[in-house]
Amino acid sequence: MIQIAIFASGNGSNAAKIIEHFKLQKDVSFVVLSNNANAFVIERAKRLGVEVAVFEKNDLYKTKSVLRFLECKEIDLIVLAGFMWLIPSNFVTAFPNKIINIHPALLPKYGGKGMYGENVHQAVIKNKETQSGITIHLVNEKYDDGQIIFQEKIEIEPKDTAEILAHKIHTLEHLYYPLIIEELIDEIRQKKEQKKEEEEEQ
Ligand code: GRF
Repeated sequence: MIQIAIFASGNGSNAAKIIEHFKLQKDVSFVVLSNNANAFVIERAKRLGVEVAVFEKNDLYKTKSVLRFLECKEIDLIVLAGFMWLIPSNFVTAFPNKIINIHPALLPKYGGKGMYGENVHQAVIKNKETQSGITIHLVNEKYDDGQIIFQEKIEIEPKDTAEILAHKIHTLEHLYYPLIIEELIDEIRQKKEQKKEEEEEQ
């Protein structure tokens, strides 16, 4: 099995698209973790038959309970999809190159603390950018700072408002995030098979 943990704090439209994308791949299993007991992502995950776990700040930063939960589940990849808190450094160490995030702009511009949701699109429109897009990147201890693994651009038209741009970006995210995750899962699968063959040879 390939075990994926999705961390989300809010609406969860990306989380739902990802889970739906892998519906027919029976060797891929999900758990959704949220820091917000009222987040709509929880409802979405339950409707899709996915296990949900809710945690509090102390569980993430003061104790190792979230980390232990992930280790017990033998999580192969952590996917942040609208997760609003910083990932602690012990997670980055425990899951090297195995934590990814999606950002609704072309990093390194329009990233960092405070650059989330509508704030991002409002800043992009205010600065009269002609392009925006999405960035999928590895996660480190800072906001929106890890190695970029994928970007896709879109043109901004003069009549576009922050709201229109947000809609366009969400559509892009829903299209590409599952595909990039699929590529990463294929790599994980291959590595697992290779390891199994090596173990059988010994
Ligand atoms: C997305 O725009 C993503 O880029 C950002 O948070 C938003 C989450 O949206 N990190 P949703 O909750 O998946 O609808």
